[in-house]
Amino acid sequence: MAAWYDPRLLAATGLRSVISTLFGHFADKREAIAAANAIQPAPADGEFDYSDSDPGGDFWFDYLADSGDGWNPTFAMARLVAEDTLTGDALPRGRLLILGGDQVYPTASVEDYRDRFVAPFDHAYRPDGTPRWPDDKAHRPHLYAIPGNHDWYDGLNSFFGLFCRRRVVREEVDLGVSREGKVIGGRQTQQTRSYFAIALPGDWWVWGTDCQLEGYIDQPQIDYFQHAAAYWMKPGSKLILCVADPAWAYVDPKDPERKFASFCYLERLAGLARMPEDREPGTEGWPQAGEPMGHELKLVLTGDSHHYCRWIEGDRNYMVCGGGGAFLHPTHHLDTKRFESRFPRPGVAGRPGRYPREFRIAETADGKQALFPDSKTSAGLAKGNFKFALINKWFVFLLFCIYGLFNWILDFNAGIADEGTLAQALRTESWRDAVVTYWDLVFTSPWSALLVLISALAYVRFADSPHSKTRRRIMGLAHALLQAVVVTLTTIAVVGAADGLVPNIHPRWDSIVSVTLATLASAIASGAAFGFYLWFCIRWLGRHPNEAFSSMAIEDFKSFLRLRIGSDGGLTIFPIGLRTVPKNDDKAPLDPHLIEPAIRIAP
Ligand SMILES: [Fe+2]
Repeated sequence: MAAWYDPRLLAATGLRSVISTLFGHFADKREAIAAANAIQPAPADGEFDYSDSDPGGDFWFDYLADSGDGWNPTFAMARLVAEDTLTGDALPRGRLLILGGDQVYPTASVEDYRDRFVAPFDHAYRPDGTPRWPDDKAHRPHLYAIPGNHDWYDGLNSFFGLFCRRRVVREEVDLGVSREGKVIGGRQTQQTRSYFAIALPGDWWVWGTDCQLEGYIDQPQIDYFQHAAAYWMKPGSKLILCVADPAWAYVDPKDPERKFASFCYLERLAGLARMPEDREPGTEGWPQAGEPMGHELKLVLTGDSHHYCRWIEGDRNYMVCGGGGAFLHPTHHLDTKRFESRFPRPGVAGRPGRYPREFRIAETADGKQALFPDSKTSAGLAKGNFKFALINKWFVFLLFCIYGLFNWILDFNAGIADEGTLAQALRTESWRDAVVTYWDLVFTSPWSALLVLISALAYVRFADSPHSKTRRRIMGLAHALLQAVVVTLTTIAVVGAADGLVPNIHPRWDSIVSVTLATLASAIASGAAFGFYLWFCIRWLGRHPNEAFSSMAIEDFKSFLRLRIGSDGGLTIFPIGLRTVPKNDDKAPLDPHLIEPAIRIAP
């Protein structure tokens, strides 16, 4: 698993994030790719059409998001989706596998995709060297993917190379060379862009969308989906929308538009389509030119949050299922989201105004919240942060280096202040005197004072309260104060306890030894305080869901969705959970279960 608190990873990911955001602003690659793969005239590209795949039978497909982190969980999920069936002869493998974003962690690169995503899927397809299904075009399931923020961290370069390699060249366009997509884990990639519209039986459609890093949807993408809704989809089609993150769950109720506007636009797009004048007339009963097409958004699928949570608004399901391999996210902080949106919900006509939106966590058939893991388990898992210093050793090493520099300056300050060495200065009669001396020394030179100020600002910056600056400052300053108390007392205690380790005739070496021990102890204590802060915030304030769980890199509680379109045109969703991921044992049996009873959406 990616060690998110490793300073090298933090620095590299931060840098990539900044660069990719800049590139996203100045050199969005989607438009160039769109230009190279112009929308084909109706009818839709047959390669995306599965509407007649299993006439009279069931059509199965899978949805898996946030894979490509550590080997154990990603390989376990790759194995699950590669099994012929999940329970006896029920729940057969999907004809399609749709990946919901963040196929690689921590940042996108050809090497990371190869090692963290392609390798486990390839190995799951050929566990003993023998393919699980014939390796030819006729038998290969198809693979589709939308990018999440982590896929965007190299400007989407590797994503395009891996998933969008296919090129369709029509006879009437004498340009380029037609080529097939790649084969990953025995599955054939089909798409040519980072978004797609695919036709399923029963007039169901899946739209996979690309919202870049900040929810920005490019114009060619809007054109593409408007074209699909107007020319490719039959009137009255039913839509499954795949997006990169649950905007409704992340929304700031005081400023909903910033996060929600793009998503709101996408979820309403199909429903706003009208019959174009130049579309070939269909069967009787089709709308006249200019009349609504009557498409209906039935289901929204997303990941980004690495847990399972079924949200509902009215009778529409908004499902978060990001358990494809990345570290677990908590569920106990989730609650009903209410806010006002500029536009009404899908299917409701209205001019821009203020429309109430309410997303609740669904109840399962047996009256529980549709969450995996459940709230109680999630809250219990948060206690793992008490071992923060043990789990995140490189972070503690970073603290050791910073405190080492800080104590070196304090030792220098002690000399200037005629206190001898730092060790001698802190060995006073009482704790109170030692604390006063310690902070006198901090403010003896501007450098140590500056380090304290920078640390306090860093803790405020780190505090997770995106919707309130005041709360963020309080959280950050409280954390800074906690760290200051822990480091001060630990330093004084260890320097005092180390008195006599080195004979008094060597005061310089006495200070070096005792201050080094104090620095080490402070780094460990500070790491423990960091873990306590994360636990407190996620347990009692519902904040730091990402930081408080990435710190523990929990591999278990994985999930994906298996979906069936029945012969009657109804959609049934089977949320599959994997409570325990085998550790370093590629052959250990897997024990998947239904997270909640299957969810049925009528035709
Ligand atoms: Fe993710």
